[in-house]
Amino acid sequence: MNKRLNALYKLLVGDPTARFELLMLLGRVLVPRYRFKWPDLDWMDNGDFNDYLGHFGEGTGLNTDRRWMLGQLLRLTCEVPGDTAECGVYRGASSYAICRFNASLKSAPRNHFAFDSFQGLSAPLAEDGHHWSGGDLRVPLARLWPFQAVEAS
Ligand SMILES: C[S@@+](CC[C@H](N)C(=O)[O-])C[C@H]1O[C@@H](n2cnc3c(N)ncnc32)[C@H](O)[C@@H]1O
Repeated sequence: MNKRLNALYKLLVGDPTARFELLMLLGRVLVPRYRFKWPDLDWMDNGDFNDYLGHFGEGTGLNTDRRWMLGQLLRLTCEVPGDTAECGVYRGASSYAICRFNASLKSAPRNHFAFDSFQGLSAPLAEDGHHWSGGDLRVPLARLWPFQAVEAS
């Protein structure tokens, strides 16, 4: 038995594909509806992208797909004139990505507008369920990456 375990251990340590396959096997048992992605695709080893996630404390978070998708969608806007805006910015991660992309364009400069209450979510109504409470996701403007603040009247 020990020999078999030893062989399995060596296989897993020395072979990333085997490790990933074991992970998928576990996934099938624990959360059958969860679908894995090919580990060698897109963002997993993209240093720049992972540094960006890390900057916002999302290196191991659940937003990776959304953040990557935003980057891909931004690429489609290269030729679109005008400014950009985000409604509900939280810690500013998406707005940061949008600003960084805007700055990389050779076309006319874009302004980016970040709208938020900076007071988090409003108190939920009955139809909103019980997952969130009023004030959740609150990030004061002062903690955001330096947007120029303009108070709504
Ligand atoms: C889920 S977070 C946004 C996440 C963000 N888009 C991202 O990509 O990381 C929701 C944000 O919406 C803001 N918010 C919620 N209700 C609002 C309202 N009625 N008016 C303005 N901002 C609101 C919260 O303060 C919070 O920052």
